[in-house]
Amino acid sequence: MFSNDLHRDIEAVLLTEEQIQRRIAELGAQISADYAGKELHLIGVLRGAVMFLADLMRHLTIPCSCDFIAIASYGMDTKSSGVVRILKDLDDSIQGKHVLIVEDIVDTGLTLNYILNLIRSRNPASVRVCALLDKPERRIVPVEIHYLGFTIPNRFVVGYGLDYAQKYRNLPYIGILRPEIYGGV
Ligand code: PRP
Repeated sequence: MFSNDLHRDIEAVLLTEEQIQRRIAELGAQISADYAGKELHLIGVLRGAVMFLADLMRHLTIPCSCDFIAIASYGMDTKSSGVVRILKDLDDSIQGKHVLIVEDIVDTGLTLNYILNLIRSRNPASVRVCALLDKPERRIVPVEIHYLGFTIPNRFVVGYGLDYAQKYRNLPYIGILRPEIYGGV
């Protein structure tokens, strides 16, 4: 189905397509129950969360809308500084809306912390976070994740939206990238 090149770069499959899809169905059911009688505004964090948001949304049985935000740190080396800039802001106002931030992975927590502060400053009715993956060993800033898919070890993972140098996002599973690909050990 995929060229051998992509699969050859994967050391091991961490989460299969079936495991991911089953968990997303559970999350969708839980979120639908929690927000029963309300409307939900999903905010996807580009680019990694695109697949997760699209699949999660199909499991929501409540009325919902979606918007996207893209942010970037000021260069690779300064990511841990927490200094970020908005590449693409939200299109719609979130005032009075029940907002669910959708992330593919929470690593240091810096991205989510920044987005949470930004969103809270715009007077939504409520804000919660749904993340597919959590890598708690890497956390710098504590952030609350209300809906979580999986806690994972501190390995370099790609697939299902997650990239290395913009590649591998199209893998339907989450795999551990071979260290020789990214120059790790
Ligand atoms: C990834 C991921 C999160 C963020 C998490 O995005 O999608 O947004 O990093 O890391 P943090 O908790 O350490 O802030 P990335 O900047 O790689 O962009 P992408 O989504 O376009 O791949």
